[in-house]
Amino acid sequence: ANAPLIDRFARRITYLRLSVTDRCDLRCAYCMPERMEFLPRAEVLTLEEMQRLALAFIERGVRKIRLTGGEPLVRRDMIQLVQALGRKLGDGLEELTLTTNGTRLAEFADDLAAAGVRRINVSLDTLDRATFAKLSRRDMLPQVLEGIAAAKAAGLKVKINAVALKDINEATLPSLIEWAHGQGHDVTLIEVMPLGEVEGDRFDHYLPLDAVRRDLEQRWTLTRSDANSGGPARYVDIAETGGRLGFITPLTGNFCEGCNRIRVTATGQLYMCLGGEGRVDLRAALRSDNPDEQLATAFARAMGEKQERHSFVIDSPGGAPAVSRHMSTTGG
Ligand code: GTP
Ligand code: 5AD
Ligand code: SF4
Repeated sequence: ANAPLIDRFARRITYLRLSVTDRCDLRCAYCMPERMEFLPRAEVLTLEEMQRLALAFIERGVRKIRLTGGEPLVRRDMIQLVQALGRKLGDGLEELTLTTNGTRLAEFADDLAAAGVRRINVSLDTLDRATFAKLSRRDMLPQVLEGIAAAKAAGLKVKINAVALKDINEATLPSLIEWAHGQGHDVTLIEVMPLGEVEGDRFDHYLPLDAVRRDLEQRWTLTRSDANSGGPARYVDIAETGGRLGFITPLTGNFCEGCNRIRVTATGQLYMCLGGEGRVDLRAALRSDNPDEQLATAFARAMGEKQERHSFVIDSPGGAPAVSRHMSTTGG
């Protein structure tokens, strides 16, 4: 009954990205509009439901779970979920991690580490306070930096994620990289993806990463890293900073061939691909009279529907988003 999750392209699904809330305390302009409409709480899965789902995935071969949002740490009972899943580490689960904006990390870093989290990804687009406040529409850089420091002090390995944006944070990327590497954190740069309507036109700030790379090569010595892991990022080592830099290029370079991941939203919708609308309703299965059987059927259907690749483009002004939902629905 618990068949391993393998799709039509013989890709084995071993990595679940579970969004625990669509809410966020920031409003990054490329991610959501200022007046974002959030889900009514009744729509969102309970902690017990999330736990049950996670276990069903682990039984089917998922080895890595990343908790995402929105911002995962704004969900009140989030740390209980981390603790519950942490007990599966070494017993099916190999890695439990999260992607956070860092604003509440100072409060939670110790608990995360105690629950078995070893590495976290923190989204931080710039170290310039005014640019941060403008981009995220909230003046919270000090809290984020405090959070990152607390994570480091708690022994968590931190990776910094930055979306690269023309005329916004482009000029501040070298200083971000230099600072992060100095602190012992890897950095990954990300091309902005056309997900969900936002106030501006993403075309105005879209920055292909080969341009950033050429610029960084004027400054530093970049060599291909042997840390390339099969995920979306392609890594280089920088001799001068002594750190590692990743490039996630959903627009200029596709990495879907080796995809091992799926996503579940806070309402229990299983999305097989970040770049598609196709989904399977796991909440309905969970809340049915026969959850085990219904879940098995839902998983089988999902594997038959996982698409081969996404096809994001941002090539002209005024283009509609490739998918209508925002990144905060699936947590990236
Ligand atoms: P690892 O688990 O270490 O591979 O982390 P990650 O870098 O994939 O995860 P993170 O949550 O830090 O996401 C960084 C960026 O990569 C976000 O903008 C995600 O939306 C993007 N990303 C992650 N997985 C995929 C994917 O399968 N397709 C696309 N297009 N983007 C992805
Ligand atoms: N395109 C690319 N990355 C995005 N993120 C949020 N929205 C977008 C988008 N439209 C990033 C966040 C965070 C990660 C989970 O996704 O900055 O690093
Ligand atoms: Fe919040 Fe992350 Fe979206 Fe920024 S990118 S608004 S931190 S969910």
